[in-house]
Amino acid sequence: MQNQTLFPLYNKDKPAGDPLQASQAEASSHTRRVYIETYGCQMNVSDSELMAGILTQNGHQTVPHLDDADVVLVNTCAIRENAETKVINRLVQLNHRKRRQPDLIIGVCGCMAQHLRDKLLDAAPYVDLVMGPDAYRNLPMALDSLARGVESHVSMTDRDPFVGLRLDKSEDYADIAPIRKEGIRAWLTIQRGCDKMCTFCIVPFVRGRERSLPLKLLVEDVEKLVDQGFKEVVLLGQTVNSYRDNGADFGDLLYAVGDVNGLERVRFTSPHPADATDSMIDAMASSASVCKHLHLPLQSGSTQVLERMRRTYTAEEYRNLVSKLRERIPDIAITTDIIVGFCGETDDEFMETYQMMADICYDSAFMFKYSEREGTLAHKAFLDDVPETVKSERLKQIIELQENISAAINRDTVGDTVTVLIEGESRRNADKYHGKTDGFKTAVFPKVPDTKIGDMVNVRVDTTTAHTLIGLTV
Ligand code: SAH
Ligand code: F3S
Repeated sequence: MQNQTLFPLYNKDKPAGDPLQASQAEASSHTRRVYIETYGCQMNVSDSELMAGILTQNGHQTVPHLDDADVVLVNTCAIRENAETKVINRLVQLNHRKRRQPDLIIGVCGCMAQHLRDKLLDAAPYVDLVMGPDAYRNLPMALDSLARGVESHVSMTDRDPFVGLRLDKSEDYADIAPIRKEGIRAWLTIQRGCDKMCTFCIVPFVRGRERSLPLKLLVEDVEKLVDQGFKEVVLLGQTVNSYRDNGADFGDLLYAVGDVNGLERVRFTSPHPADATDSMIDAMASSASVCKHLHLPLQSGSTQVLERMRRTYTAEEYRNLVSKLRERIPDIAITTDIIVGFCGETDDEFMETYQMMADICYDSAFMFKYSEREGTLAHKAFLDDVPETVKSERLKQIIELQENISAAINRDTVGDTVTVLIEGESRRNADKYHGKTDGFKTAVFPKVPDTKIGDMVNVRVDTTTAHTLIGLTV
C-alpha cells in the first residue's frame, strides 16, 4: 500500500503528477517562465499552487514543461531520508541541464531547503535559490535579483545564491490566491505548521509553529472553488483537527464548509488522535457532505513506543477512540500511518502494533520504516538501534497483514451499492471511469450515456481487489 494514492497528505516520494498549468501572466521582459516540480505530500502540492499564485500576481508565468522554463523550482520533502536522496539525485540532473543552459535558475524550496540549509548549498553549489515554506513571498524579489545577475553575465560560480529560511509564525498566505489545476478535487490548506513535536518528526522544525486560517475566509474560498467547478474539497493541515479560529474549532469549520451550496464532498487530512473531539465526530456523523472516512495515524500499537514517540495518547486510548467512532458512525472507513523500527522497538512492542492492526482492521494503511532525521528530538535523545534488516522484516509483515485485511474488507462490499464521484477515465480502459467512494476506495466501472466526470453515480460492486472495487452503475 505504500506510495500509492494522492491522499493522504504525504507518501509521495515522486513528483506529484503534472506540474501546474501554465499561468496567464502578461509577458514582459521581466517575466520569468517558471517550472515547478513538486515532491512530497499534498501540503507541498498546495504550496506549489500558492507559489504559482505569488509568481503570477507578480508578473511571472508558470509553464508546464521544463524545456520551456528559465527557472525551475523544486518543492521538496524532508520527512524521510529517501525523500531527500531523490531530490539530490534530481538536482544532479538539473545541473547537467544547466551546463547546456547556463542562465537556468535552479531553486530548492520547501521542507528540505529548510532542513538542510547551508548543507544543501555545500552539496549542490549550483543551486541559485534556497527557500523555506514561510518565505515564498520573497520569490518574485529573489527571481528579479537572480535574473539581474544572469543578465549582467556574472558567471554562475560568482553569483550569490538567494537564501530565504526565516520561519514566520504570522505567515498564513491568507491573501494569496493559489493557482490550481482544473479538476474535481481541490486541496485547501486550513492550517500551517505543527506544535505537536512527535520525537521522530522533522515537520515542526521545517514548517514552524501551528497557525490556522480564518474560518470566514476558508468558507469563501470553498465557495469560490465550487464556482470554479470543484466538487470535492480536502482540508489540509498537519494536525488538521486542532484547527482554531477565535471560538470556532474544527467541528465548526466542518459544518460551515459542509453547508456550502454545490459542494458534494468534504474530506480532511490528517487529524491527530489526541484532537479527535466530539465536535469533530458530530460533524462527521451529521453533515451530509463530510465524508465518513478518517485517516487516523496510529504510528505504533505499543504504549511504551508511543510514549517515546511523544504521541500523547496510549494504545488503550486510541482503541477507545476507534470504538467510539465506529459506534457513532457505523460505516466509517478508517485508515492509518504506521512506523516500524522506531528507536528501541522490541519484538514484543512490534507485535503490539501487529496485533492492533489485526484488531482494528484498517481499510488501508501507509507503512514506513523509521528514518532518523537530524535535528529531531529522537535524533538527540535515542539511538536508531533497530537493524535495517529487522525494520524491513517488520515492514514486510505488516504490509502483508494489511493487504489481506484490505482485500477482505473490499470483498465484503461485493453486492453493495456505493456512491462514486467520477474523477476521470480509467487509465487502462478508455471505456471505463474511475472515481472514489465516500470511504475513499477506488471504484472502476464502464461508462454509461449521460454521465460525465464530476457526476455522482451509484455503482453495484461485482468484484474487488485489495485496492479497487469493480462494478456497474445502477
Ligand atoms: N501530521 C501529519 C504527519 C506528517 S508526516 C499527519 O498526521 O498526517 C506523515 C507520516 O510520515 C507520519 O504520520 C509518520 O507515519 C511518517 N513519518 C514521519 N516522520 C517519519 C520518520 N522520521 N520516519 C518514518 N516515518 C515518518
Ligand atoms: Fe509530525 Fe507529529 Fe506534527 S507526526 S507533523 S510532529 S503531529
